Amino acid sequence: MLFSPSQKIVLASNNSGKINEIQALLQQQLIVKQGDLQVPEVEETGSTFVENAILKARNAAQHCQLPALADDSGLVVDALQGAPGVWSARYAGVGATDAQNNAALLKALAEVPEAERSARFICVIVLFRHALDPTPLIAQGVWEGRILTAAQGNNGFGYDPLFWVPEQQCASAELPFAVKNALSHRGQALRQLAALMQ
Ligand code: IMP
Repeated sequence: MLFSPSQKIVLASNNSGKINEIQALLQQQLIVKQGDLQVPEVEETGSTFVENAILKARNAAQHCQLPALADDSGLVVDALQGAPGVWSARYAGVGATDAQNNAALLKALAEVPEAERSARFICVIVLFRHALDPTPLIAQGVWEGRILTAAQGNNGFGYDPLFWVPEQQCASAELPFAVKNALSHRGQALRQLAALMQ
């Protein structure tokens, strides 16, 4: 096994929604967020999810001299040619709140009929064993759905209130935590990663 139980792994994110989901799925390892280890955030300059995940994980591994995990995720909307994509967290501007991003998405799709509101969440997770790791572990999950015309539900974070989940007939923000983890892009990617770590 590459990673022993209770191995400390730095998570290159300070988003508490993500940390909870990641720790719940990688129960064997001790996940420490980079903010607790004074890791400066790196600029997400990539134009793909995988580039940004690599930038973040390598930066955290370099600063901590520990294995480091980064996820880069976002929402890809067909009617918007893939936007917000890697700009999901910043769709309404740098530092935008979830509510502002959701409002911007509803506005951009205002004239788009239900049948053309297909979208998917993507999550790429990268694990560097050390900063110079030439073969980081890479996993990707995809969760298909559709963008609602108004927010529904109070769970989750980000675009969850606007993401209709066909197999559950509700919004992602209406799903219990465990159900979301079983279906979501991040859950899929983490289970793939856990398998690669064996
Ligand atoms: P990242 O932190 O650069 O990966 O940005 C991810 C952004 O994509 C988040 O800030 C959310 O806006 C959105 N996002 C990613 N995963 C989810 C999810 O599971 N639910 C809702 N929004 C998500």
